[in-house]
Amino acid sequence: MILVTGGAGFIGANFVLDWLRQSDEPVVNLDALTYAGNLENLASLAGDDRHTFVKGDICDRELVDSLLATYQPRAIVHFAAESHVDRSIHAPGEFMRTNVTGTFTLLESARAHWMALADDAKGAFRFHHVSTDEVYGSLGPGDPAFTETKTYEPNSPYSASKAASDHLVRAWHHTYGLPVTTSNCSNNYGPYHFPEKLIPLMIANALAGKQLPVYGDGMQVRDWLYVTDHCSAIRAVLESGKPGEVYNVGGWNEKPNIEIVKTLCALLDELKPDAAGSYSRLITYVTDRPGHDRRYAIDARKIERDLGWRPAETFDTGIRKTVEWYLANQAWVANVQSGAYRDWVEKNYAER
Ligand code: NAD
Ligand code: TYD
Repeated sequence: MILVTGGAGFIGANFVLDWLRQSDEPVVNLDALTYAGNLENLASLAGDDRHTFVKGDICDRELVDSLLATYQPRAIVHFAAESHVDRSIHAPGEFMRTNVTGTFTLLESARAHWMALADDAKGAFRFHHVSTDEVYGSLGPGDPAFTETKTYEPNSPYSASKAASDHLVRAWHHTYGLPVTTSNCSNNYGPYHFPEKLIPLMIANALAGKQLPVYGDGMQVRDWLYVTDHCSAIRAVLESGKPGEVYNVGGWNEKPNIEIVKTLCALLDELKPDAAGSYSRLITYVTDRPGHDRRYAIDARKIERDLGWRPAETFDTGIRKTVEWYLANQAWVANVQSGAYRDWVEKNYAER
């Protein structure tokens, strides 16, 4: 079996669902259920004994030790993190605790567990660290896309905390020999994306007739990847990635934010026309994010060359599926926005 951290969040939940669609190998899912963790994302796994959910903190060494001892996973896939740049600007402390101390705690627990394994199991064990392209910093318009050897130049508290965690993972391999792999992925989009991030926020606001707040001039560029393509990349790294290696994952899909917002408006105009006119009437330019990175772009040739991975979705197919998912799952968005998804959690865990 494998141990996943942060499997109730956006990418982690998609990964767990996808994993169990592709194989019967059980998953233990450790998640603290912060505001970003939502068990409704995993509702389709109710009663499925291949999935074991554990509510807990990756900073809790005793808990992590006991999970490794009990379940003896062959791999850890580490998603748990504070992930929103704007929140990191307002309150960086939790980013340092979860992203840095939490990763350190997991590495130490994994190292103790791994050291005690028999030779065969030791060779097969993997610690996969899920990271971001934001650690590399910001590109100018003509700069080449990020390769795995690009210098780290993180600019936000979020990216600095992820950069720190990447360095810890690297050091645990070089110093202790822990068999780690790291993937640095570009911006994901798709189902179960928390509506504080650009794409789900714009869809939710448009449907509610609210303003669509574009930061600055809207010409910042991100490289978008459909979330299940990120999941397949992680599976490929787990299967045949080399310990100590880093793999950049991206969709070859650079787009300025304003183009994303206009595409969403056009799709909504087609799929759910509004009598008041095109949703693009709601686009509003607002004050820019402090220290806003101008451009990210991933050079994903290494993972294609070494592991044969390529994204299955184009931006056109992925973004249409995403808008269709949000239209079909407006109750999910409403529960997140009202906080109702937390009621079930409180009811379920209050007496434990
Ligand atoms: P998310 O914010 O949607 O989910 C994070 C999950 O981690 C939540 O379920 C939360 O409850 C859990 N968590 C937070 N602190 C925890 C703690 N101390 N202990 C246990 N669980 C905790 O994030 P996401 O967008 O799904 O991102 C997942 C990972 O992928 C992160 O490491 C992020 O840096 C990385 N990543 C994200 C993107 C993206 O576009 N979203 C791109 C590249 C890399
Ligand atoms: P976001 O989804 O927060 O991801 P990240 O900051 O990790 O790339 O933002 C994506 C881009 O969209 C980023 O350039 C900031 C911009 N943005 C807006 O213009 N308006 C918004 O309301 C949000 C949330 C983001």
